[in-house]
Amino acid sequence: MFLTVIGIPWTDPMAEKVLVTGGAGFIPSHLEDILVEKGYDVTAVDIIDRGSCSNIAHLLDLPNFHYIQADVTDVDAMVRASEGMDFVYHMAANSDIRNGGKDPNIDHMKTFQTTRSVLEAMRINGIGNMFFSSTSAVYGDRKGLLDEMTGGLQPISYYGACKLASESLISAYSYMNDFNALILRFPNVIGPRLTHGVIFDFIGKLKRDPKKLQILGDGKQNKQYVYVLDLARGIYDFSERIEDGVNQYNVSTESFTDVNAIADLVCERMGLDPEYEYTGGSTGWKGDVSSFAYDVSKAKARGWKYEFDSTGSVRETLRVLDLDSIPLY
Ligand SMILES: NC(=O)c1ccc[n+]([C@@H]2O[C@H](COP(=O)([O-])OP(=O)(O)OC[C@H]3O[C@@H](n4cnc5c(N)ncnc54)[C@H](O)[C@@H]3O)[C@@H](O)[C@H]2O)c1
Repeated sequence: MFLTVIGIPWTDPMAEKVLVTGGAGFIPSHLEDILVEKGYDVTAVDIIDRGSCSNIAHLLDLPNFHYIQADVTDVDAMVRASEGMDFVYHMAANSDIRNGGKDPNIDHMKTFQTTRSVLEAMRINGIGNMFFSSTSAVYGDRKGLLDEMTGGLQPISYYGACKLASESLISAYSYMNDFNALILRFPNVIGPRLTHGVIFDFIGKLKRDPKKLQILGDGKQNKQYVYVLDLARGIYDFSERIEDGVNQYNVSTESFTDVNAIADLVCERMGLDPEYEYTGGSTGWKGDVSSFAYDVSKAKARGWKYEFDSTGSVRETLRVLDLDSIPLY
């Protein structure tokens, strides 16, 4: 726990040391809020320069929070950053699937090579536990309820493929080097500080033109959304009780929200009544999975809980989101 001793910030030298890759990002910043509050000694690594770390600006001067600007694909840098760590949360990745579709190199480097580099650093430093942020995109375009035993996975985006390849590499490194890996496969994550995605795009587009809203596809894409604070609490809770070996969990709400409903809620929040224009087709872009359904019973049996359902997550996000923080799109 970090305390103030006669006015001087003080960190418990016995505090558990954790490293968070992608630590300046949206979801990692919420996890770090929890870790810092719980008294961990937290080091965040991200490629973003310190001055631009708006998501974690409130943490930067705390005694039990440290920031390293580095490229996670750099194995030497990661070996240095992870020395003496008890736990690594590997969350650096390209998180913009659509953009990654324009150049396969983006996901190869940011989503796969970051994982390889983190695993090498863990092997060299003998670190015993890790968390990995995976995704529903590993399942590809599949119908029916998807559970962790669903096989024959055929991702349809470079992002999904690089996450699945990362999971495979984690499995081998875990076995060969006797460390534990917790893998949570998230659906669409939303909430304060979000950096991309449909809500972000709609707000940015409406700021540019309040009379017209372009909707990718037919607006009927129907997905599961989870609120970032529910997810961050889940990551923390599962990590605290990490099991031996490699364990994967689907984590999600068990409800759906379609893109048209999100558009309506965004317009309501912004007090606008624009004309909707559809680009057509059943998906937003090549590589987009228009609908999927998770079976989350394995995660629930381990204690996964959420406060907001899918549409509740959208509403709560719009309630708390700082619209000024979203750029014109
Ligand atoms: N947001 C979602 O809906 C969602 C869904 C499923 C999985 N995930 C996964 O959760 C994790 C966090 O996602 P997020 O939405 O917070 O994204 P984000 O883009 O806000 O955060 C990711 C961070 O990783 C950093 N990063 C990327 N490549 C790097 C590199 N080579 N070196 C150092 N830093 C690098 C970025 O600068 C960014 O700050 C990612 O692994 C993402 O794939 C997110």
